[in-house]
Amino acid sequence: MIPRLPYGGRLLAGVCLTALGFVGADAWLSAGSSATSQPKRALAQPDKGKGADAEETHGALAMDQQLERLATMLGDPKSVVAPPGVSPTFFATLVPKESPGTAAQVALGRKLFFEKRLSRDGTVACATCHDVSRGFTDQRPLFEGVGGQVGRRNSPTVLNALFFHTQFWDGRARTLEDQAKLPIVNPIEMGQPTPEAAVASIAGDQEYQREFRTAFGHEVTYEGIASALASFERTLVFLDAPFDRFLAGDVKAISDEAREGWALFNGKARCVSCHQLNSSNPIGTDNRFHNIGVSARHQDFEELAKRALKTLAEDDSSEKQDKLAIESDLSELGRFVVTKNRADVGAFKTEQIRNVGISPPYMHDGSLGTLWDVMDHYNKGGEANPYLDGGIEPLALSEAEIDSVVAFMFSLTDDRLREQNEAQLTRQRQLASSKRPFRDDSLASRKVYPFERRLQTGR
Ligand code: HEC
Ligand code: HEC
Repeated sequence: MIPRLPYGGRLLAGVCLTALGFVGADAWLSAGSSATSQPKRALAQPDKGKGADAEETHGALAMDQQLERLATMLGDPKSVVAPPGVSPTFFATLVPKESPGTAAQVALGRKLFFEKRLSRDGTVACATCHDVSRGFTDQRPLFEGVGGQVGRRNSPTVLNALFFHTQFWDGRARTLEDQAKLPIVNPIEMGQPTPEAAVASIAGDQEYQREFRTAFGHEVTYEGIASALASFERTLVFLDAPFDRFLAGDVKAISDEAREGWALFNGKARCVSCHQLNSSNPIGTDNRFHNIGVSARHQDFEELAKRALKTLAEDDSSEKQDKLAIESDLSELGRFVVTKNRADVGAFKTEQIRNVGISPPYMHDGSLGTLWDVMDHYNKGGEANPYLDGGIEPLALSEAEIDSVVAFMFSLTDDRLREQNEAQLTRQRQLASSKRPFRDDSLASRKVYPFERRLQTGR
């Protein structure tokens, strides 16, 4: 089920977005094909030799401590209901009828999310990569799964993921239920050989037997695991930020700089053309897919697309798409792997910008370390490539303007995560003060144009 109904909540009501003449972000530039070399990314790293009892695989906070922190943010597990300020009618469209999320289902999902036994070797839980103490991500460029294997994609946050119309960077899963079934059996995430093996890993546990009977009226099943996990994730609503108090009329809730950033976001910086943050889009995404050039730095898209079409002609199942996205160099094709549509080459889902300060590094490949790097990427007009979204062009933002948009983004973190947000702001500011690898003033200020640059330098 894909929720498409309008959002009628009071949250963000009264936001008056600047009238925008440039919102049409659908024009696609087309030019010759780019011929750059293939990246050499390690597909897998040798096992780092962690024992099954390691509490902190890949640097995650111990599961019991994560659960404690979560309890301070959420209290006891409650049934899935529309949060304050979100229209119940809209919210109902986000919850599949067959997975309503009773309090017992949510409680079960909250336990399963931290359950390492769901992985092949008992070392990796959902919360290894979606760690409560690290913005519900792993804060690594690329994820690490069972046996220390490194994947192709960055772990996004699960906070507010319930609001997306599709799941994953390429939208290949439609619901949170469909999504939850994939990492458990993906060979390099949690590595279970089959859904049955995942069920068997917990089905002998009498507590789980009892909890499944209470929640679903039957024994442990894979559907039940996915439904419980999704129900738990529908309670991860984190939309209570200083920015929301600002919109509600408390002008001083965010700094002058952040207010200036909000104006730029809606104006000169053009962010709002894709990151629509308004009453219908509380998390700041248009739920669409765009090539903003992140994956264009090293790709020969045509060669990749040719190989993808050949592979998918043999097997176009959801498991196959998952493997290509997670483990193969075809990952960089993004949405194309799902749709095989030319316009989707190198296109990824517009990421939400809620709580964005605490989920570095950024983008589907984790290639941008700080929000300043993100601004540098956009300011120079992304990376030129034949499939670049027409909404991406040099912005000519000054340093002060970049700082303002960054300050605005740091005002979008929920109060329950304020400490993480402040620590990240300090950390990222420090990093950015010594290193701005994506900054290119001559492109940003349009002294040269991306197209010219590409013809002159071949990149
Ligand atoms: C080994 C690391 C790892 C584990 C374990 C893991 N994930 Fe993820 N998760 C990722 C990565 C990487 C992505 C993005 C993959 C992609 O888009 O291709 C992701 C994406 C997601 C998304 C989509 C969010 C969005 O913005 O589209 C959700 C929801 C999610 N994971 C929930 C879970 C759940 C539930 C579990 C446990 C069953 C889990 N994850 C286990 C790494 C992990
Ligand atoms: C043409 C559409 C478009 C425009 C315009 C746009 N974005 Fe994005 N944004 C995206 C897409 C698509 C992604 C994911 C791209 C990827 O991972 O390859 C993204 C990702 C991001 C991320 C990374 C989030 C994360 O958790 O990794 C941030 C931050 C962001 N955008 C902020 C901005 C800001 C600030 C602006 C304005 C300067 C802006 N965006 C303009 C489409 C857009």
